[in-house]
Amino acid sequence: MGLEELTSEEISLILATAKSTQKIFSQEKKQPLPLKGKLIINLFYEPSTRTRTSFEIAGKRLGADIINFDFSTSSMSKGETFKDTVLTLHAMKPDIIVIRHSAPGAPQFIANNISASVINAGDGAHEHPTQALLDLLTIKETFGRIERLRVAIVGDIGHSRVARSNIWGLTKLGAHVRVAGPPTLIPSHIEKMGIEVFYDVDAAIKDVDVIMCLRLQTERQNQNLFPSLKEYSQFFGINQARLSKAKPGAMVMHPGPINRGVEITSDVADGEKSLILKQVANGIAVRMALFYLLARENHKNVAH
Ligand code: CP
Repeated sequence: MGLEELTSEEISLILATAKSTQKIFSQEKKQPLPLKGKLIINLFYEPSTRTRTSFEIAGKRLGADIINFDFSTSSMSKGETFKDTVLTLHAMKPDIIVIRHSAPGAPQFIANNISASVINAGDGAHEHPTQALLDLLTIKETFGRIERLRVAIVGDIGHSRVARSNIWGLTKLGAHVRVAGPPTLIPSHIEKMGIEVFYDVDAAIKDVDVIMCLRLQTERQNQNLFPSLKEYSQFFGINQARLSKAKPGAMVMHPGPINRGVEITSDVADGEKSLILKQVANGIAVRMALFYLLARENHKNVAH
């Protein structure tokens, strides 16, 4: 249910499939529809712009019927439980359920209770595997490799499922990863994941190839994890002055949504070193690859 469980070979297969998918679908001729007749349900219990939309586009491009479940108008408001909701939707025979939930382990829980394939679109602070896969694809396209690159993940590491999935993925593919941010936002013992920890962002980004900024989860502000947004931005935000002291070829990433002027300034987010919109575009290719590989796997299972 995350990159923690995938091998480096499995991750590489998904990236290679995403690359082929991009090539096939950039051509003008009529494309194959490997998911024709398949039903996908997007089950998002948390807000999303990028992830939900790109799963929907990916499913439609491959010929699937895709339904967006809106929990705010669902019978959960009448007291129906999460499990009953999932079992009800599953009785409608979807082939794949894509789920985002605030509870870590929710995708695994439903995978244990239904026979359809389940894709984790983000579970609490645990993992956001498809985000990390699209980040890996973006890095690979930009630098031609992932192995031996230095990547600094900067910001609210403690609350970030994106950070966790990227640490698993990047280290499995041979990158050197460091995290940087205020001590209150960096989990203790995180270095056991095979990474370095910095509390000084300037030192952390000095010689890296990729600076991956994270959204500051402002909803945690009332826990006094840092003094103020202004101070956070001053000491940990990626701005042009800070970036100018980094390696000349360093590129900047952000999974979105961004807080402009907090973890990243607008001139950096919109500047020539920003890969942010490339990341968004690659989200479709990665999610098409996953749908395609799952459909192929299920077909094999049926055939055997
Ligand atoms: N990166 C990401 O998960 O964005 P959304 O919340 O908009 O899906």
